[in-house]
Amino acid sequence: MKNPIEKYEKLLGFLPGFLIRWLEGVLKKNPRFKAMIEEEDRKVAQMLERSLKPYHSTFKRHHALPEGGIERERILEEIRAMQELERPKWEDGYVSGAIYHGDPLHIDFLNRVYALQSQSNPLHSDLFPSATKFEAEIVSMVAGFSGRGDQAPGVCGTVTSGGTESILLAMKVYRDRARRTKGVRRPEVILSTTAHAAFDKAADYFGIKLIKIPVNQHFVLEPSRVEARVNSRTIAIVGSAPAFPHGVIDPIDQLSGIARRNGVGFHTDACLGGFVLPFAEQVGFSVPIVDFRLPGVTSMSIDTHKYGFAAKGTSVVLYRDEELRREQYFTATEWPGGLYFSPTLMGSRPGALSATCWASLLSVGAEGYRKMARKLLEAGSFLKTEAAKIPGIRVLGDPLWILAFASDEVDIYEVMDRMGERGWNLNGLHHPPCFHIALTLRHLEPGVLARFVADLAWSVAEARRSPGKSGGMAPVYGMASSLPFRGLVADLLKKTLDAIYRV
Ligand SMILES: Cc1ncc(COP(=O)(O)O)c(C=O)c1O
Repeated sequence: MKNPIEKYEKLLGFLPGFLIRWLEGVLKKNPRFKAMIEEEDRKVAQMLERSLKPYHSTFKRHHALPEGGIERERILEEIRAMQELERPKWEDGYVSGAIYHGDPLHIDFLNRVYALQSQSNPLHSDLFPSATKFEAEIVSMVAGFSGRGDQAPGVCGTVTSGGTESILLAMKVYRDRARRTKGVRRPEVILSTTAHAAFDKAADYFGIKLIKIPVNQHFVLEPSRVEARVNSRTIAIVGSAPAFPHGVIDPIDQLSGIARRNGVGFHTDACLGGFVLPFAEQVGFSVPIVDFRLPGVTSMSIDTHKYGFAAKGTSVVLYRDEELRREQYFTATEWPGGLYFSPTLMGSRPGALSATCWASLLSVGAEGYRKMARKLLEAGSFLKTEAAKIPGIRVLGDPLWILAFASDEVDIYEVMDRMGERGWNLNGLHHPPCFHIALTLRHLEPGVLARFVADLAWSVAEARRSPGKSGGMAPVYGMASSLPFRGLVADLLKKTLDAIYRV
């Protein structure tokens, strides 16, 4: 039987946001509603316990420090055992994104570099000049294939901990610059609804209002709709290359032109595409230019820990010139602890991760990235062609190597559940309901793509043959995506985070 929320869901969807929030507030005080939510919470908690804590029954839990310390070899054994359980899934190419290279020789190489540098901290540049060398050279290498040249000779940047930090910093830079130079007190950033949630985080942290423009039916952001929203509070416009959900690239050329004409910043989020698009272009693919060769682009985020094949924990944020980068820096001149200065969000930083990033760039080289880009785009094209042959499934938009699948005939989340039965770990998305796969080198191994296509055809057929029987997360995805009370969904997500931190 449907619960009352599900019963009235469609009707609630027509109400304006403020009324739904008000209703949600009223209902939360109602004892019957509260009891129903508690019951749902209990069910979700049980499900979370099973999926987030699979080791409860197999490994000893440590609630507090062991009194005497445990032998190193025993600790290593335990970590090895967990790694053995986790590795096959990503190693055999069943996972979307997440592990972008994954070849054992590459991993072993990065591990050896890490072992040599595990004590390094770029905050202590006097102690670890190697770390400063690695970071300066990482930035220079990435700038080198991101449009630094005659038209943009001053491209510079910093190494950060990941795409989110690169984005947070760029948004802080635009906020501070607009406040300093134009006195903007209520800053706004214009971007697509498909831009990464890291921009929402930046807005939340730094008091920026996001003006979100819905994409059209091809999942493309229309420049005229962006231009119409530029005003005196606009500090920057953002474009994704590509956007995470559907792998579609925003029209960076036109969007950055709008930013330039209006004297505001333009950030290309190339966390996913920064290492793919320039090299795809070099091997002759017709891909759009998204970097500093476009005069309006003033900053970029490019993730070394994704298609740069570095270990997790590094990204690069680039700026058109040093003046902009200086807006990112933090200094404290009166602290009794001494003169303090730091380029990014963190204080102490893992120099070993910068070392592995530097080593990855050097060992793969331009030729390696060109090869990877060619293969990824060929794989994307193969998958699009093969998916088109499966009745009942369609690819959203016109993506390159990150493909989102939707259906007008079956419940797409049930298809995803069925893919899960076959071992796949894919990303469930919403607005509209779909799931995606971000192709990586793991999917280029022999037989992996063919297996994906066969499993997709089987999963669609199963979802059609026995709807409502997938027995997985489909109902949760369905409800979380369509529930009008977004506050309840946010509460659920926070409870999930609580569950993660329960021993
Ligand atoms: C387009 C895009 N931007 C930003 C990010 C955030 O990167 P991270 O998870 O490294 O913080 C991602 C992550 O997938 C992304 O796909």
